Amino acid sequence: MTNVTAENLQAGDLRIDIDRLVDRLAALAEIGAIDGTEGCSRLALTDEDKAGRDLVVGWMRDLDLEVTIDAIGNVVGVTTGASNGAPVMCGSHIDTVRTGGRYDGNLGVLAGLEVIETLRTAGITPPRPLAVGFFTDEEGARFAPDMLGSLVFIGAMSVEEAHGIEGIDGAILGHELERIGYLGPSPLPAAPPHAYVELHIEQGPVLEVENITIGAVTGVQGISWTEVEVTGESNHAGTTPMAMRKDPGLVAFQTAAFVRELVLELGHPQVGTVGRIELKPNLINVVPASATFTIDIRHMDNDVLLEAERRVDEFLRAAAEAEGVTIATRTLARFEPVIFDDRVIDLVADTAATQGLSVKRMPSGAGHDAQMLSRVCPTGMVFVPSVNGISHNPAEYTAPSDLEAGANVLLHVMLELARS
Ligand code: GLV
Ligand code: MN
Ligand code: MN
Repeated sequence: MTNVTAENLQAGDLRIDIDRLVDRLAALAEIGAIDGTEGCSRLALTDEDKAGRDLVVGWMRDLDLEVTIDAIGNVVGVTTGASNGAPVMCGSHIDTVRTGGRYDGNLGVLAGLEVIETLRTAGITPPRPLAVGFFTDEEGARFAPDMLGSLVFIGAMSVEEAHGIEGIDGAILGHELERIGYLGPSPLPAAPPHAYVELHIEQGPVLEVENITIGAVTGVQGISWTEVEVTGESNHAGTTPMAMRKDPGLVAFQTAAFVRELVLELGHPQVGTVGRIELKPNLINVVPASATFTIDIRHMDNDVLLEAERRVDEFLRAAAEAEGVTIATRTLARFEPVIFDDRVIDLVADTAATQGLSVKRMPSGAGHDAQMLSRVCPTGMVFVPSVNGISHNPAEYTAPSDLEAGANVLLHVMLELARS
């Protein structure tokens, strides 16, 4: 490809190099690799996250991108050269949950590098600059809320507020940013890109079950995250009669069971999860003093989500009163459902069809940085299948042929957006 020029190359025939993309995914996955698996663990702003960032920034510099780092640690690489105006941006995140796979987020970032390298190798300069970014703490697993970097990027949360967030390990976000050397000078909120498109694995079973290669994502369901702290009375497990107990653990487990009953009653596509429970002192023969747990509920219809939140709250209060314990609740994240830009959704679907790929319009069950970017510019997403619908698990896997298809759709969607 090295000698191909813009003049003699039909941009429509251009294809990314899947081996290079898979190699970069593998190299990044070595950082924080989870022994005996293909997965990795790079919680936001840890040493592993820093090492991953350094690797990707190096790749950006190798491609002569102008790299900026802002005060929440978002990193954006922009092509320089003949084209000007606001860039067409792609990207995602490279932080992972503690037990993550190698594709969630990383694919969108490394496919963006691949798009830029493919165009560069072909000697094609799009009419607008292209940008690829990775946003800080998309997962929200260490510092809530999720999509934190993109939230600050668009100006929906102040830098000061974000810097003060305390993580599940007691670390303060601003200190961690500084410690790993990613508290940058680039101004926030950032200037909106011309458009934003994010390639991501589906993280669910739909595309695989329906034997479809590309999802043209129509939007993202609303997300509600609550942390509940229940305080009771710690006492001896052998001597305390059941009628005299004030057991915060009981309320946590009852609520977990209630969340399951409620989402079944509300029906598909309502989902609900109690994913973190911490008992103190967490000993076999001690009635717990406190229980802290999280509730994650999501729905595409905000009214249904509001109803689910109301029912959970009502249950919690009744359960706490019955057991004689006190509760304090804290909202960790609350994002309304998002609908993406019709033109970008159509462009993704048309581009996939033009490339002979099967395509389905579908909402996203997971949260994504794209849902924040959609508040400031035309935005869409491209999904590729997840084998067995598994994600947030080291077993996460997407076949190279599907990665390739998705990256090629990303390439041509970005090229088209750069012409508008
Ligand atoms: C982010 O990955 C989320 O959807 O929880
Ligand atoms: Mn993700
Ligand atoms: Mn994720």
